[in-house]
Amino acid sequence: LAGSPAEGPLAGRHLLVTSGPTHEPIDPVRYLANRSSGKQGHAIAAAAAAAGARVTLVSGPVTLPDPPGVAVVRIETAREMLAAVEAALPADIAVFAAAVADWRPAVFGGEKIKKGPEGPPPLALTENPDILATVARRSGDRPPLVVGFAAETTDVIAHARAKIARKGCDLIVANDVSTAAGVMGGDRNTVHLIGRDGSLETWPTLAKDEVARRLVARLAALANGP
Ligand code: CTP
Ligand code: CA
Repeated sequence: LAGSPAEGPLAGRHLLVTSGPTHEPIDPVRYLANRSSGKQGHAIAAAAAAAGARVTLVSGPVTLPDPPGVAVVRIETAREMLAAVEAALPADIAVFAAAVADWRPAVFGGEKIKKGPEGPPPLALTENPDILATVARRSGDRPPLVVGFAAETTDVIAHARAKIARKGCDLIVANDVSTAAGVMGGDRNTVHLIGRDGSLETWPTLAKDEVARRLVARLAALANGP
């Protein structure tokens, strides 16, 4: 019922999720982006809302509908995503499922770049802020539970283990995004859960909605303690 207090394992908690790609403008008509449908991140937001959490979903451009009962903040660039995430803090749990563009064009001219006899323009890049690492290292209002994703095409677990240490998060959800795995844009996902203590759990291939429900149940158990 509208206005009734939320019930469920995440009642009273604020969960922040990033989802989708970011778009980094080259000029007014072109951009640089990662492949991302947003399906997994949006499914996590929906599952957390269903578990009673207040959910803020910071999303890059996707074609998905807003999940029911979720406050959606739409952004385009990584820098806008970081600002929206920081504005949404404090949170009890933060899940960084977005496929953030690691780089953006170093210069953004306000005018469309035209083709010409001099050939293609050079595209100088500069690094974007790491949103997950920035939030995981905040003092004062660091969310008690910070969850990252690791999209890898080779050596999934080794890369993910290195990432958890480098980024300072508590848990990493690692998946194989090599073309053969068919995760990108698809409805199913095979993930490994890697803990800061080195623990490893491999889940069977599941629908992204089911991965989201299981992950939310796990996060609720971690947040609510033994
Ligand atoms: N991430 C982020 N901000 C960035 C880059 C990544 O918040 N600028 C987050 C992603 O949302 C994900 C995690 O960091 O939760 C790992 O992203 P990934 O691209 O796998 O790792 P990178 O550190 O960017 O390393 P690389 O792309 O070189 O593998
Ligand atoms: Ca990256």
